Amino acid sequence: MPKYRIALMPGDGIGNDVMDAAQIVLDKIALDAEYVHADIGWEFWRTEGDALPQRTVDLLKGCTCALFGAITSKPKDEAEAELIPELRGKGLVYRSPIVRLRQLFDLYVNLRPCKAYPGNPLNYRDDIDLVIFRENTEGLYSGVEFHPVPQAVREVLEAHSPAMARFADVAEEDLAISCRIFTRRGCRRIVRRAFEYAQAHGYSTVTVVEKPNVIRETSGLMVREARRIAADFPDVELWETNVDAQVMWLVKNPQDYSVLVTSNMFGDIVSDLAAQLVGGLGFASSGNIGDDFAIFEPTHGSAPKYAGQYKVNPMAMLLAVKLMLDWLGEREKAQALESAIAGVIAEGKVRTYDMGGSSTTLEVAQAVAERL
Ligand code: NAI
Ligand code: MG
Repeated sequence: MPKYRIALMPGDGIGNDVMDAAQIVLDKIALDAEYVHADIGWEFWRTEGDALPQRTVDLLKGCTCALFGAITSKPKDEAEAELIPELRGKGLVYRSPIVRLRQLFDLYVNLRPCKAYPGNPLNYRDDIDLVIFRENTEGLYSGVEFHPVPQAVREVLEAHSPAMARFADVAEEDLAISCRIFTRRGCRRIVRRAFEYAQAHGYSTVTVVEKPNVIRETSGLMVREARRIAADFPDVELWETNVDAQVMWLVKNPQDYSVLVTSNMFGDIVSDLAAQLVGGLGFASSGNIGDDFAIFEPTHGSAPKYAGQYKVNPMAMLLAVKLMLDWLGEREKAQALESAIAGVIAEGKVRTYDMGGSSTTLEVAQAVAERL
């Protein structure tokens, strides 16, 4: 039996293009793995009323990890209108399959490395090496939201928080509340993973990026837990910054930072900014990582206008494969893949359109495979 069973979920649009690219490289890497295809995306929403069919969830439960391409998602009304006639009017609600997978498998780490590979004309600077740990399951994206706010909720808030008095006169339909929910466990585990990563990969600092001077309770909890955990890692220094200042510094001195750890929404924003410093969507890979399962993906979407044209940059996907190899403990193979990717970028001959070239998605993958 192969050592690993890996699910391949291409999804929609260019998710398929970049998954084909990944397969060229995976073939060359010759991992001791069995690859299984898993259904996900718009087609399954349209025809089955579920973008993440139960058979996919069952299949993933028997896998070591998964590689995901991208999916298409659309607003509620449009989604309903595209259902096959038999499924319309049944109250089916489209829900993002990737968000559901993160929750279902408790993939609490969103790992977003942003490294400038020398020779990439899209680099903001050539000496950037950032690794962002974004909490992936709670915070402002917990999904606890109200509009209108039920009277009972309002009364409880007014009874327990003097700050609510300012909103006492706001009409029911004019008030909306989204809860920013942090748990001690959630803070601890994301910070611990960040420190472990810094230690294992030789980074000397971890910066906790929050806003405890204003969002006292949630950001405060995160920062206090970070201080506690930092005590277990004497070789790694803890830096504390406020998110607003941090994004300025990332533009001013990105080379000064290495591992950053933050909550869900701040991480969403900071990681997109960081990705753009090193080439943008064509280079932004990510890992959704739990304690015993993980899903790796490029962070771009399905880019419908390029679907099936093999024009887009597969580097984000190939870097996601590299993250997967790291997570599997295949450090040598991961390093070999990263060197091959860096080599192709440095040589500058095989480039997709976003880098100013005219090579295809698959030609880039082949160039990487040849160097392996
Ligand atoms: P997108 O990321 O699909 O594409 C935006 C633009 O970025 C593209 O038109 C293209 O110019 C460029 N781009 C994206 N990937 C690239 C690559 N690998 N190489 C070179 N250029 C690249 O975002 P958009 O257009 O906002 O969304 C399209 C669909 O994807 C929507 O349905 C959206 O909901 C979905 N989406 C899915 C995500 C996921 O599966 N994780 C993430 C973001 C969006
Ligand atoms: Mg995002």
